[in-house]
Amino acid sequence: MGDQDESSSSSFSMGKSAQERGLSYVPECYVIPTSHRARLTPQVAPVPIIDFGKFKRGSDQERAVVIQEIRTACRQLGFFNIINHGIHKSVLDGALSMASEFFELPGSEKAKFMCNDVHKPVRYGTSFKDGVDEFQFWRVFLKHYAHPLDKWINSWPNNPPNYRETMGEYCREVMKLSLEITSAITESLGIGPTYLTKKMENGMQVVTVNGYPPCPKPEMALGLPPHSDYTCFTIVLQSFPGLEILHAEDGKWNLVPQLESALQVLIGDHFEVLSNGLYKSVVHRATLNTERTRTSIASLHSLGIDEKMGTAKELVSEEQPQRYRESSFRDFLNFLSANAIAEGKSFINSL
Ligand code: SIN
Ligand code: FE2
Repeated sequence: MGDQDESSSSSFSMGKSAQERGLSYVPECYVIPTSHRARLTPQVAPVPIIDFGKFKRGSDQERAVVIQEIRTACRQLGFFNIINHGIHKSVLDGALSMASEFFELPGSEKAKFMCNDVHKPVRYGTSFKDGVDEFQFWRVFLKHYAHPLDKWINSWPNNPPNYRETMGEYCREVMKLSLEITSAITESLGIGPTYLTKKMENGMQVVTVNGYPPCPKPEMALGLPPHSDYTCFTIVLQSFPGLEILHAEDGKWNLVPQLESALQVLIGDHFEVLSNGLYKSVVHRATLNTERTRTSIASLHSLGIDEKMGTAKELVSEEQPQRYRESSFRDFLNFLSANAIAEGKSFINSL
């Protein structure tokens, strides 16, 4: 099979992506321009580590310190690592095993969920929009809505046989954690811990399970292109490092190191809007390696699909006029289905 076959979209309809066929070269459609390539030996910078146990159970003083640390991390990077979050290691490991087991299933099994329609609540694919984009990304993914769990779980894969139960437990716990993180972040913004509670309880949780197979030349392709998430925030669990974040200050990419049982919190565009730009959504990408399939589970949290996120009026003043238009998650999905690809902060609506 030559490059020509690989660069067409036919791999999608055949149910097996180029990555899944274990190629020994990088097909043309995955090769990204030299200027956009990741370094083989990435720069690793320390990232803020938030001890969430101190937010939940600490003294008033410890709690105040955590809130301040969250504020600084959200302003400077739009990113932090969270430890002592309360989700047991066995639940984290169980979810990552389910991800690997799902990706190891025969192509015909996964193909049942293949779909290019970004509005579909459950779909499997091999790129952002396989066959549509000029560049493809070295990734397979399964995306499913997860909140409220009872509403969606029966539409998830039931192969592997314990997928629903094990992934469901992880999703339920992450959803609970997301409400606590929301409280901490809105408190850190000075608008109070319950500012978004009701809306987030009735909001969306979209879980993307990612698999990045080994790549023969990892510097020539990317698992995911630079983008910010169109969410309030995203909670990422990864099997090993590969997530890179862009430091806005110096324009440099940094690999996020993995701490035992830590989760990564990425501020999304909706919190940039809510905070009137005080907090920054973080631009990030997924890089590759030659050795092992990396798996990650990204839990995206936002308001209800048609609920518009606007800027908190408390954060608008004569000195800080409103900077963003309000928009909903559905507005973003409509944008995504009408445009080739969402790279960088392509949808955030500045006034
Ligand atoms: C992402 O969801 O944007 C990337 C997650 C990852 O693979 O680290
Ligand atoms: Fe992302």
